[in-house]
Amino acid sequence: MDFIPVNRPIIGEEEKRAVLDVVSSGVLVNSSYEGGPQVRAFEGKVKRLLGAKHVVAVNSGTAALHTALLALGVGPGDEVIVPSFTFLATANVVLACGAKPVFVDIKDDYNMDPVAFRRAVTKKTKAVIPVHIYGYPADMDEIRETAAARSIKVVEDAAESLGATYKGTQTGRLSDAGCFSLYATKVVTSGEGGAVSTDDDELADLLRLVRNHGQVRGYDSRHLGFNYRLPEMSAALASVQMDRLEGFLRARERNARYLGERLAAVDGAKFTQDAPDRSHVFYLYTLFLRKNREKVLRALNSAGVGAAVYWHVPVHRAPLYAKLGYAKKKLKKTDAAAGHVLSLPVYPGLSQSDLERVADGFVRAAREYL
Ligand SMILES: Cc1ncc(COP(=O)(O)O)c(C=O)c1O
Repeated sequence: MDFIPVNRPIIGEEEKRAVLDVVSSGVLVNSSYEGGPQVRAFEGKVKRLLGAKHVVAVNSGTAALHTALLALGVGPGDEVIVPSFTFLATANVVLACGAKPVFVDIKDDYNMDPVAFRRAVTKKTKAVIPVHIYGYPADMDEIRETAAARSIKVVEDAAESLGATYKGTQTGRLSDAGCFSLYATKVVTSGEGGAVSTDDDELADLLRLVRNHGQVRGYDSRHLGFNYRLPEMSAALASVQMDRLEGFLRARERNARYLGERLAAVDGAKFTQDAPDRSHVFYLYTLFLRKNREKVLRALNSAGVGAAVYWHVPVHRAPLYAKLGYAKKKLKKTDAAAGHVLSLPVYPGLSQSDLERVADGFVRAAREYL
């Protein structure tokens, strides 16, 4: 029986043709301030989806976050408040700016606790990075209220949440800058890639500068920047994927609904990302297991179901951060999530029989171990 991975992109004929067209054209990259035609077409599609004034494509979600922080002027002496229950990139970019990450705890929905954020604010707090974990929007009203009262910049880590909405507004539009990833497993992919959205003209200019070594015309560097340009091939691929986003999201939602119905009666496993005022894109379908998470994980994997844990190790406990003294920090819900969550396959390419195998496998494992 085939192994069902936890996530898999759908790449169709149109994507292949779009990439080949770029390869055949011989223009693989356009290193102008504005970017090439494929980059601009992709940016236009994201702009329309979000209703944002500007979208700047870059070559990873990490680059998106780093670009946003640099453009907002985050630097040495600044503190940036981040969750620890996230991918390393959220905090690594803060270190890359020479600033200090300050980790705060999450709520039962795995997103940043706005009260913990408020309590962590100091005179040095320059920015906060809420993450919309697994594609489920964080409590942005509360976070923005605290940030606005203290002139703190808000950067959304929307790497996993393209297409999700919070009180009717797309994630990525709920802050100074929204950062997306186009990594291979993401809701829309270009293999590696990313984008930053903003409504601020001045910030958009800085984002474009950071993406291109600070240059407008060439060798006129006016701001610290890097090569964060998205190649034309990747932009062409992502552009076709953008046309399919609505279908992808409908399929993810349908799959999540099926899993929700099948697993509702399972005692000892809770789905906690379901507030009615926001929509989930189900980048991952994640359950909190009361006990025996590793046993359930092993049982599913042996049955050919690629369930996985995001994340076993919260960022503040990763060796680099432990060395910097962060591991002592008490983040109760973060540690609980790291020890108890399990994500099931929910991607759009799952067939009905795949879905049944995922649900049957989970119900069987739950009967034995939960
Ligand atoms: C929450 C989160 N932040 C940031 C990133 C970084 O994105 P990338 O891998 O495209 O650099 C990812 C994805 O990998 C992510 O899941």
